[in-house]
Amino acid sequence: MKNQDVSRRDFVKNTAAVTAATIAGSTFTIVKAESVRGTKANSTVQIGWVGNGGQGTRDAELLEQTGKAKIVALADYFQYRVDKAKEKFKVDDKKSYRGIDAYKAIMSDSSIDAVLLTTPPGFRPDHFRSAIAAKKHVFAEKPLAVDAPGCRMVAEAGEKAAAQKLSVVVGLQRHYSKAYRACKKLIDEGALGIVGLAHSAWDQGDLWQNRRAKYDKAKWPTQMDWEVEHWYYFKWLSGDHIVEQNIHNIDVISWMMNSHPLKAAGFGARTARTEIGDIWDHFAITYEYPKGVVSSNTCIQIDGTMGDVSETIRGSKGTFTTSNAKGGAGTASILGKRERGMTETPYIYKYDGAQGRDLHYDQEAATFVASVLGTGEGEDKYRNDTKYGVESTLSAIMGRDAAYKGRVITWDEAWNSKEKLAFKGAA
Ligand SMILES: NC(=O)c1ccc[n+]([C@@H]2O[C@H](COP(=O)([O-])OP(=O)(O)OC[C@H]3O[C@@H](n4cnc5c(N)ncnc54)[C@H](O)[C@@H]3O)[C@@H](O)[C@H]2O)c1
Repeated sequence: MKNQDVSRRDFVKNTAAVTAATIAGSTFTIVKAESVRGTKANSTVQIGWVGNGGQGTRDAELLEQTGKAKIVALADYFQYRVDKAKEKFKVDDKKSYRGIDAYKAIMSDSSIDAVLLTTPPGFRPDHFRSAIAAKKHVFAEKPLAVDAPGCRMVAEAGEKAAAQKLSVVVGLQRHYSKAYRACKKLIDEGALGIVGLAHSAWDQGDLWQNRRAKYDKAKWPTQMDWEVEHWYYFKWLSGDHIVEQNIHNIDVISWMMNSHPLKAAGFGARTARTEIGDIWDHFAITYEYPKGVVSSNTCIQIDGTMGDVSETIRGSKGTFTTSNAKGGAGTASILGKRERGMTETPYIYKYDGAQGRDLHYDQEAATFVASVLGTGEGEDKYRNDTKYGVESTLSAIMGRDAAYKGRVITWDEAWNSKEKLAFKGAA
């Protein structure tokens, strides 16, 4: 077989067997990963999907839309979710599993190359670690954990993935936007000048009211079932909405600043949405970054609140701004200085592609498949998003815990924390 006929997918799958065979025969042949990575025209990445809900359906569709990936196995806590996905993605009944341990059947299936992890984030560290241990490529939705022990577990698995050249894509899809990437390049080149302040927000009304209204608690046999179905409202499953949702915006500031925050202080409360769960409904955090950069961050989920989903960074030469759009087609730009006599603020960068066509989610899914097949280019040749995925998850956790505890929390304290969020049992 010619080297260029072997994809990364095949390489990873075959490495264990080859190593075992060569050791058994006492001939040690070390083959560099780079020398066997290439393309294989008709490869289809076989994907096992754990957590067959809303965002997972979107990710699974986009992965299949590449024409080079197929959902071949399913695992969900609830049978009704498995059934829906089985029909939509035409998955064999024998490869459709139900229950809290259903993911294990996917991990132990050697015909599966990659996994799509889209359960509530509370389960993510176990699933992530198990996938890498089984030598699967991973597409994992954000956040990667709900507490520091979970972050450390994912970080360790991410390093193992890198050592084996397993691809990891994390669902922080702004990293796959052409406009955000163009701004990032210019910011790295100094387009903003001296940066002082940043702000990020995910402010909106209440969410999932439909899910709340539709299901009466008596229909869920156990407290655990009830909480898993309504996971968003429970800290041990979602990490609270600052972690589950606002992570996107906190992540962008860190990405552009080339650093995670050093410390956080903040406030928040649970005032409007008190009838379900234990998460709060608004937070305001201040993060300190290196070189004295201060970033404020807000998130609110109180019904009627006007929306603001954005990131802003203010510098002496320019301002980075972003705007959200439905379906993940938001954009990013850099405004320059408005000199005396100018009627408008000039753009240093403005996305010049077709409006609404910078599709973050689509590009993210396509990049994952290309990374697995070894057909990506430039920074996308091989993706392993674990490090920034973990750092952004922990940044949001650090902000959350600063508000919960009412005091400053440093990065080291957050990273080393032993506090684990867990199911409390029946009320
Ligand atoms: N990147 C984005 O823009 C984006 C948008 C929405 C959601 N998300 C993320 O996607 C993930 C899923 O969110 P969603 O909105 O699809 O939720 P969802 O409730 O629609 O889907 C979650 C699915 O996981 C299943 N599940 C729960 N526990 C499980 C377990 N232990 N094993 C197997 N299956 C289990 C549920 O039954 C459900 O089918 C979350 O991490 C969320 O933060 C990302």
